[in-house]
Amino acid sequence: MPEVTLGIIPGAGGTQRLPRLAGPKTALDMITSGRFVPATEAQDAGIIDELIEGDLLAGALAFAERLVADSAPVRRVRDMEIDGTAFPESFFDKYRQSIARRTRGLNAPECAIQAVEAACRVPFEEGEVLERRLFQECMQSSESAALRHLFFAEREVTKIPDIPRDTLTRPISSVAVIGAGTMGGGIAMCFANAGIPVTVLENDEPALERGLALVQANYERSAAKGRLSPEKAAERFGLIRGTLQYEDLAQVDLVIEAVFEDMAVKKEVFAQLDATCKAECILATNTSTLDIDEIATATSRPEAVIGTHFFSPANIMRLLEVVRAERTAKDVIATCMKLAKRIRKVPVLARVCYGFIGNRMLHGYLKASRQLAYEGASPLEIDRALYEFGMAMGPYAMSDLAGLDIDYRIRQTRTDLSEQERVDNVIDPLVELGRLGQKTGRGFYVYEKGSRTPTPDPEVHTLIRKEAERLGIAQRQIDAEEIVSRCIRPLVEEGQRILDEGIALRPGDVDVVWVCGYGFPRHRGGPMHYAEHSADF
Ligand SMILES: NC(=O)c1ccc[n+]([C@@H]2O[C@H](COP(=O)([O-])OP(=O)(O)OC[C@H]3O[C@@H](n4cnc5c(N)ncnc54)[C@H](O)[C@@H]3O)[C@@H](O)[C@H]2O)c1
Repeated sequence: MPEVTLGIIPGAGGTQRLPRLAGPKTALDMITSGRFVPATEAQDAGIIDELIEGDLLAGALAFAERLVADSAPVRRVRDMEIDGTAFPESFFDKYRQSIARRTRGLNAPECAIQAVEAACRVPFEEGEVLERRLFQECMQSSESAALRHLFFAEREVTKIPDIPRDTLTRPISSVAVIGAGTMGGGIAMCFANAGIPVTVLENDEPALERGLALVQANYERSAAKGRLSPEKAAERFGLIRGTLQYEDLAQVDLVIEAVFEDMAVKKEVFAQLDATCKAECILATNTSTLDIDEIATATSRPEAVIGTHFFSPANIMRLLEVVRAERTAKDVIATCMKLAKRIRKVPVLARVCYGFIGNRMLHGYLKASRQLAYEGASPLEIDRALYEFGMAMGPYAMSDLAGLDIDYRIRQTRTDLSEQERVDNVIDPLVELGRLGQKTGRGFYVYEKGSRTPTPDPEVHTLIRKEAERLGIAQRQIDAEEIVSRCIRPLVEEGQRILDEGIALRPGDVDVVWVCGYGFPRHRGGPMHYAEHSADF
């Protein structure tokens, strides 16, 4: 019952029949999550009468004949009764609380709970009337409009106006990843998880060992948590092998480079790849900020060069920005868009510019959040306001998670920034004190050992206040509404510029980037959909 993923509830009696068959608890789990249920599980839950292996028609006939022979009674689901006393109000309240985190900001799951509760309390016909009313309410909600928009946007991303659907793609049956760092390891896992063998190339033995050990530990953790059987984990890890030799990449179909963010290093790697890889091999870079057209000049085949920008952690985040460089061949683009689906990513096509779609928009969003702090809102107030809006986390918590050193390093190396723009009198002192964020236990916030809960730090507030004084900015109380509006506005404005410049193909593509890659609330449809339907814009 996937309706809730579209912001509605099952109509046509779904919320009244399923609890009668499977019990209110199982029905609630299925309806409020919208997850797909394997046939055997559905049979165990009482939803399916019989599973037929082999010849379906013959099996179904045999089952029907058996029912007739046994004089089985007609069993009408509507006539089944649930013992309501076993499911008092407190049961439903507890259930509400148990899913509160997962369904933050959503109304459809709440409507589902009310409808299922009705199934325990009132006759079928009455339950159906309530279900109908709740269904109508959901159908007209902004939540449903947003979720339906994303449903279609996520399917439209692979439509590229100048690349026909039937473009012949290149077969990809083996892949190489250059660099076994944070991103390289995660990218290798994406392919191994899809059953595609991966060769990981590193600079030296210790770096290779370290990288592969992290990947192995990651698989073992998944197995320990029961997300993966130990055999499956071992099988997947077995698809990844390390090397220090470029010759081992001669026959792979695709290479993804994920070495340090340094143009000289990347060019050297691409020159090597050009010299070793077979002619049909696609050469992709995971760069976040460098000019892919320039990287392509290091090769004799710029048409084979493309950007595949993964998001951290690469084995988890669903977004993949596929970046089309000036000379990238159409079949190379089509191949990468298709491949994304195999590795369970949502690909969005971008053109080359600083930060592509997602990070380019992030810049203005973070800048607005810093400005709000100078004006008197604390990082915690800012994060809270945006969390309440529905973001997975606020901008300060996000910076702490990514590492303040990333922002610091990027500013230092950007040649297009003025001297003044390169300095940040709040972040720079923090980084220089070794306060890099969650990974060091301190950043904008303080984190107790082993905890991800941010605690505000007066030292940071002092730094912010001093900077505000230096800039001559008066501090004041700022309410949540202003915080949200001032952070979301630059996102939308940059999104519009990205569309005007043709960096992204459609507003929906921009929305998919921010929902799948940056924790923008799904039920608000992404920044462009939100702006389109908000009185604020
Ligand atoms: N970390 C992120 O959140 C993130 C997100 C998206 C994209 N990226 C991009 O991904 C790339 C890698 O980033 P990272 O965070 O994984 O860096 P990292 O420092 O964790 O890993 C880089 C790895 O590359 C190896 N390496 C360096 N030079 C090499 C060479 N010549 N040959 C083989 N291996 C080499 C290093 O030993 C290291 O293990 C960068 O371009 C970065 O901008 C990073």
